[in-house]
Amino acid sequence: MTCFFSKTFIALLVLFLTNCLYIEAQKCNPNGIVKGKSPSGRCKHEDDLCCVPGKKYQTYKCSPPVSSHTKAYLTLNSFEKGGDGNGPSTCDNKYYSDDTPVVALSTGWFNTKRRCLHNITISGNGQSVVAMVVDECDSSKGCDAEHEYQPPCANNIVDASMAVWKALGVPRNQWGGLDITWSDA
Ligand SMILES: *[C@@H]1O[C@H](CO)[C@@H](O)[C@H](O)[C@H]1NC(C)=O
Repeated sequence: MTCFFSKTFIALLVLFLTNCLYIEAQKCNPNGIVKGKSPSGRCKHEDDLCCVPGKKYQTYKCSPPVSSHTKAYLTLNSFEKGGDGNGPSTCDNKYYSDDTPVVALSTGWFNTKRRCLHNITISGNGQSVVAMVVDECDSSKGCDAEHEYQPPCANNIVDASMAVWKALGVPRNQWGGLDITWSDA
């Protein structure tokens, strides 16, 4: 009887530890910190988009694991010439109209260009849309000239053109922030 219980106990313990290791492997921890530099006057964007001098921001090289319903946060960007995006897209050095469904992904999901020009299915607001990955939302660096003194991206961002927001049927006055899921198309 004791033997039965201890075997069960060990089996449960092993199961528990394996599960812990699995969860640990799936975690995406920060890999560093960048600090807002003074003066912040060099930031061309609205003040609330610039790194605050002295404030620390976590950086990430990883993103949460991708599944058939990867949780993410949808933000708004323009990939047009003269848009908020800093220059042409990293993937093919082109600009994209606001009417084309394109996105930038956080560093881990961008996966050193491996998702470039691949399509993802974005679901949100009860609708879904297919969009092409053309750029990176850099979560590994920030608060420097290269990133126009803006903070690093979070590690779970799908930064999308207006076309994506329109296709999801989100009312225009709510464009900018939405919980969504995505998967490789
Ligand atoms: C993604 O979609 C675009 C537009 O429909 C298409 O031109 C492109 O070839 C697709 N990319 C891949 C890798 O299938």
